[in-house]
Amino acid sequence: MQGLLDRRLLVVTGKGGVGKTTVAAALGLLGAEGGRRTIVVEVGRQSRLAELFGRPEPEPGEEVRLERGLSSISIDPDRALLEWLQALGGRVSGRILASSGTFQYFAAAAPGAREIVTMVKIWRLADDGGRRGSSGKDLVILDAPATGHALGLLRSPQTFGAIARVGPVAKQTGQVQELLADPDRAAYLAVAHGSEMAVTETLELAADLESGVGRELAGVVANALLPRRFSAAELGRVEELRAPDGNGRGAGGAGETRLVEAAVRAAREVHDRAAFQHAQVARLRRRGFEVVALPFLWDAELGLDGVRHLASRLGHALARPAGAGPARAQS
Ligand SMILES: Nc1ncnc2c1ncn2[C@@H]1O[C@H](COP(=O)(O)OP(=O)(O)O)[C@@H](O)[C@H]1O
Ligand SMILES: [Mg+2]
Repeated sequence: MQGLLDRRLLVVTGKGGVGKTTVAAALGLLGAEGGRRTIVVEVGRQSRLAELFGRPEPEPGEEVRLERGLSSISIDPDRALLEWLQALGGRVSGRILASSGTFQYFAAAAPGAREIVTMVKIWRLADDGGRRGSSGKDLVILDAPATGHALGLLRSPQTFGAIARVGPVAKQTGQVQELLADPDRAAYLAVAHGSEMAVTETLELAADLESGVGRELAGVVANALLPRRFSAAELGRVEELRAPDGNGRGAGGAGETRLVEAAVRAAREVHDRAAFQHAQVARLRRRGFEVVALPFLWDAELGLDGVRHLASRLGHALARPAGAGPARAQS
C-alpha cells in the first residue's frame, strides 16, 4: 500500500459502522502530516469530522479547517442535485424548485443524477490541486457511504453517462470516469471488521468494484481487532490456575474460586474471539489482499486521541513495502 497517499483521490469503502469515517480521518491526519493539502469528504448531511476535531457544525457544503493542511467538507447528494438544477434553471429559486415536484421528478427520472453531481464536486476538489484555479488540494479522501451507496456513486458515470451523451454534463461525466479509472490518481481501500460476514462482504465489494469500476482494492484495513495476548501454551497455563475439582488454588475460599473461574473464562473468550478475527484476516490475505490490522481501542468513545493513535499505526503499515509481513494488532 506504499504510495497510497500520493494519489489524488483515496476512496474509503465498507459496510456501515466498520470504521470508515475513523479510518478516513486517520488517513487525513497522515496526508496532512506528510505535507499534503488534504481534505476529507463526507457524503450526506453529517459532519462527523468537524465534530471529532471539536469544530462548530458547519453550514452544508462548507469546508471546515480541522488543522494545518487538513480540512473536511460534507456533500449532500440531494442538495448537490438541487444546486445543479438551479444553475441550469437560471432564475428559478431553489425554494420553488425544491417544492415544485420538478426536483423529485428529475431525481427519479434520471438514475445516478444525485450521484454524478456529487462525484463532479469531488472531482473538482481532486482536479490537479492548485493548478488551473482549482481547489488547491493534493489529496482528497472520500469517506464513502455504506457499500451499496458507494458503488452507486462510483458507477454513476456509467449510469448517468447513458443518459447524457453530449454537452457539458457528458464532459464532466467523462472526467469523473477518467479519474476513477486511473490507477495513478485514484485508489480504493476497504475497511472491515474481523468477522466472517464482513470478510465475505469485502470479497464481494472487491468483485463489484472490479466489475463496476474496473478497479482493484489497494488494500483492506481490518479495523478494531482484538489483541492476541496469549499463545495457546500460555492460555493453557492460565487455565491451570483453575484446579480440576473446581477449587481455585490460593487460600481465598469460594469467593476467590469464582473470581479465578471468571478471569480464566474471560481470558479464554478474548483469546478465542481474537483467534477467530485473525483467522478471518488470514482469509483476506490468502485471497491476495494487502491487509493492515488496526487494534480495537477500549475507549468509551473514540476521540481525536484515539484516531491519532490509529493514524500512527496506519502510517507505519503504509510505509512498509508490500509483502513485508503482517502487522499484529496490539493495544
Ligand atoms: N479501532 C477502533 N476501536 C474502537 N472503536 C472504534 C474503532 N474504529 C472505530 N470505532 C468506533 O466505531 C464506531 C463506528 O465507527 P465509524 O468510523 O463511525 O464507522 P463508519 O464510518 O464505517 O460508519 C464509532 O463509534 C467509532 O468511534
Ligand atoms: Mg461514517
